[in-house]
Amino acid sequence: MTKLARIVTAVSMGLLLLVGFGRGEDPTAKLRSDRDGLALTPPMGWYPWNEFGQEPQNEKLIKETVEALVRSGMKEAGYTYIGPDEGICFSRDASGKLTPNLARYPSGLRGLGDYVHQQGLKYALYTDAGTHTCSKAMPGTKGHEFEDMKAFAEWRADYVKVDWCNTTGQTPQTAYPKLRDAQLAAGRPIVFSLCSWGQGQPWKWAASVGHLWRTTEDICGPGKASWTAAMKNLEANQKLSASAGPGHWNDPDMMITGMSGLSEVQNRSLFSLWCMMASPLIAGNDLRSMTESTIKILTNREAIGINQDPLGIQARIVRKDGAAEIWAGKRLFDGSQAVLVFNPGEAPAQVQVTPGDAGFEESASLYVRDLWTQQTSGPRAGSIRVTVAPNDVALLRISKTSSFPLPPITVADSYRVVFHASVNSAQKLTQAITVKNNGSSELPLWALSPGLPSWLSVTVTPSGRAQTFSNKVSVAGLGRGHYHAVVKADNREPISGLPMSALYYDVDLDVSGAAGGPAGN
Ligand code: GLA
Repeated sequence: MTKLARIVTAVSMGLLLLVGFGRGEDPTAKLRSDRDGLALTPPMGWYPWNEFGQEPQNEKLIKETVEALVRSGMKEAGYTYIGPDEGICFSRDASGKLTPNLARYPSGLRGLGDYVHQQGLKYALYTDAGTHTCSKAMPGTKGHEFEDMKAFAEWRADYVKVDWCNTTGQTPQTAYPKLRDAQLAAGRPIVFSLCSWGQGQPWKWAASVGHLWRTTEDICGPGKASWTAAMKNLEANQKLSASAGPGHWNDPDMMITGMSGLSEVQNRSLFSLWCMMASPLIAGNDLRSMTESTIKILTNREAIGINQDPLGIQARIVRKDGAAEIWAGKRLFDGSQAVLVFNPGEAPAQVQVTPGDAGFEESASLYVRDLWTQQTSGPRAGSIRVTVAPNDVALLRISKTSSFPLPPITVADSYRVVFHASVNSAQKLTQAITVKNNGSSELPLWALSPGLPSWLSVTVTPSGRAQTFSNKVSVAGLGRGHYHAVVKADNREPISGLPMSALYYDVDLDVSGAAGGPAGN
């Protein structure tokens, strides 16, 4: 590092500024999400573990998967969080600091995060609450919670999964709250995914700690999807419906939809069940080589709408009819109801779903939409008769009206803007970020959180179904160095009036020593 670079780095550390993360310093907050407004609907994204295990996780795989996620339409459907799982990302140096594994991640972990953000996606990382991660190839956070969460914030992680291997002598009830405190101290909004596989019964206490918690063992070994194992996770997770809600989700593990070992019917059923359980929709298959059928399943926006419903209710089994299960109790934001008939048996099942099963009075006149055939019938009275093949589902949305609005899906063209300017130049530079809603309602304007630094101003303007965030920096009076801000905004879903997950992005400003430097890019 040159002397100048050292000075710039030192200055930049001093100038690092986080703004707009102001929802609450309230230490008595009942929910973690009351503090940060994050994950008010189940997180959607991709993690490599189910398909790849530790190998070959590296920067190339993550970047190729980002491209595939965008190309396949998954980004437009709402999948957002992506990054390495236990992919030998970092080690700890002699001073105790985490250092990225540059052989696997040549851009560094911050560099990979910048890439992810610039594709309009959010960055996920992985660590462990114990001494080491499960394979022992990476250090765990035990005894280093505050420095490690600070490193994750500096790498600009938006989501962190914290595993539970090598934790002898620790309890989830004390280890995870410490990590929460470390994340809050680090100051970056971050979704916290607890991964103790149900140990310590996190559904009873972790809503004030993190945004989601694993309820089960792993759904599969790397590359070895199994329908039987998935059914075990389903069975355990479905009992916990009372513990889920906006900002606090039961997590029956990443999906295995699209992995070899499952039939098309099983792929569709697993996805439907995860949608009904308001489970995080974290894909675990190889996105680079998906079949058309898998893409269609993973991007079914009407099914995703059930999962991303602002009320955040986890459906439960309300009745069994022979082998068939009737899943309901999932009222949606517009007063409609989601109902799933799942047939885990070996023979076709004929089931009558009554209006009462679906949460309506028995005499109600109803419209029924099949979310896989995308056909609507009605108005009609009485029971709805469905025939469901073995392992298959009927996924229905039932309403008193014939309109079936989709809840918001927020999609940004980028979550990072970068400005380059020169000192004493009186330059004013502008760059925009565009945020679309792929749901069916027009959203109110996003409301910016106060507290932007004096060099940055942001205005939000509507443009059709999108909104533009215009970021204007004013260099006058600034010394050279690196300046950083997090811009945060809130919104409400207009039909229910419920808050949406907070939106935020990074703004970087580099002010160089020489006058007449390049304008913002
Ligand atoms: C645990 C987790 C998995 C994965 C591996 C990595 O088994 O439950 O999801 O993160 O660790 O080793």
